[in-house]
Amino acid sequence: MEKRKLGSQGLEVAELGLGCMGMSQMYGPRDDVESTATLERAIELGINFFDTADVYGAGHNEELVGKTLGKYRDRVIIATKFANQVLPDGKRTINGRPEYVRSSCDASLKRLGVDYIDLYYQHRVDRKVPIEETVGAMAELVKQGKVRFLGLSEAGAQTIRRAHATHPISALQSEYSLWTRDYEDEVIPTLRELGIGFVPFSPLGRGFLSGNLRDLPADDMRPKISPRFEAENFQRNLAVVDRIKEIAKEKNLTPSQLALAWVLAQSNDMVPIPGTKRRTYLEENLGAAKVTLSKTDLARIEEVAPKGFAAGGRYHDMRSVNI
Ligand SMILES: NC(=O)c1ccc[n+]([C@@H]2O[C@H](COP(=O)([O-])OP(=O)(O)OC[C@H]3O[C@@H](n4cnc5c(N)ncnc54)[C@H](OP(=O)(O)O)[C@@H]3O)[C@@H](O)[C@H]2O)c1
Repeated sequence: MEKRKLGSQGLEVAELGLGCMGMSQMYGPRDDVESTATLERAIELGINFFDTADVYGAGHNEELVGKTLGKYRDRVIIATKFANQVLPDGKRTINGRPEYVRSSCDASLKRLGVDYIDLYYQHRVDRKVPIEETVGAMAELVKQGKVRFLGLSEAGAQTIRRAHATHPISALQSEYSLWTRDYEDEVIPTLRELGIGFVPFSPLGRGFLSGNLRDLPADDMRPKISPRFEAENFQRNLAVVDRIKEIAKEKNLTPSQLALAWVLAQSNDMVPIPGTKRRTYLEENLGAAKVTLSKTDLARIEEVAPKGFAAGGRYHDMRSVNI
């Protein structure tokens, strides 16, 4: 796989990463054996960029990922995140206070079983704490050698500017895919201007753009977090996915490969991190790195899935994004 630069501080990764969240939560039951085999296979296939967070599976994900990747420490880029704090009563809050930054980092290092984190993101911006204070504490971690590069997630343009003025930010990780293009107007141009890389999360639209999701099990988490997966919207969105499927078929690709190739084609400062806990999907998704979409292909995709096509917002509660 080709390499892409994230930011201007020297971080370089293979053009497709692996999102590990689903190995611990969100998209059906865990299978640690298959998840571990998926991580090993990813290494064999040249993936070197792995995405986790302290909150995924309440620490389970960092432990799982760390156990396998520890063996390959010098070959892999481990990205993790802090800020989504679970309080003793089980409620969630966003915490960007400096003391929480420090204690979260120490806890992540321990669970991962490593001496340093390559890319440390603030998972969500804390409205109650000036970004300079949070990033100031993150910068201390860089000085101490606990962290190599800094990132933000779902931050808005002004926050990105203020953060970057405090300490260079290497990457923004936010949702981006064929059906989520909210950040194209302001945030992505700001990243370009400042020389910050972009890591699109949920590039397969939480599995929707694979075209495989036709019926959701009753206990599926997706309708609970996103109106797009609620009954009526879901059916409307399926009609668009069916047209994406047709284009993919003509090009001898799967819809997932087409959706990932579309993200890769947007710009070479983007490194999508499709998530899977299965070797079969991983292998299929890597096929996207071999695809070159022509201008005509991109125009056809735009025609069937124009910007903003999705019925329903991406979250029920949009208060913690684009801050
Ligand atoms: N910063 C943030 O706030 C944030 C939020 C969400 C996610 N993330 C990160 O981004 C990563 C990717 O996002 P995501 O996992 O939410 O969504 P995604 O990559 O858009 O989709 C993941 C879903 O698609 C399925 N899938 C993957 N490849 C497939 C294929 N070829 N055919 C059919 N289905 C396929 C997976 O199934 P299986 O699970 O069965 O393999 C899973 O259900 C996460 O793992 C996480 O690390 C970050």
